[in-house]
Amino acid sequence: MADGARLTTVEDVREDGSFLFTATNSFDMEEEVIVVPCDEEVAADGGAPVDGEGGVAAWINRCTHEAQRFDTGRGVPMRGGEIICPKHGSMFDACSGECDNGEAAGTTLPDVDVTVDDGDVFLTDDEYTFEHEGGVDDGDDGPSSTSHVGF
Ligand code: FES
Repeated sequence: MADGARLTTVEDVREDGSFLFTATNSFDMEEEVIVVPCDEEVAADGGAPVDGEGGVAAWINRCTHEAQRFDTGRGVPMRGGEIICPKHGSMFDACSGECDNGEAAGTTLPDVDVTVDDGDVFLTDDEYTFEHEGGVDDGDDGPSSTSHVGF
């Protein structure tokens, strides 16, 4: 069993298309993280953790061009193994996080380490602590909570 918070299963990520959760980073700020299907064995730069059971990678839910969420509450827009930015349409490789087109060309998404163990997906990144499923706002008690990272 992997050492970390259990997030979801590979099967669910693949069925639903993506999985969104909120984690606290090492600066004690909340970040949204997306888990997406990835079919490659290993990401080129070692950024995206994938194992033989196949198939997921995790990234910060924010475009590198502007502070635009990929998953705005309806899942991550994807096509052909690429994450599509809903604002200007740049596409990022779901396995490597790299973008070679549009406004975000030449950038790579910040990665978050996850590990697959027996079909379950665990958060295994020392820099992040699991908070809850869904986006930052999904963990609010009400609209008065303002201790968020600004997007
Ligand atoms: S905000 Fe994503 S490409 Fe511009």
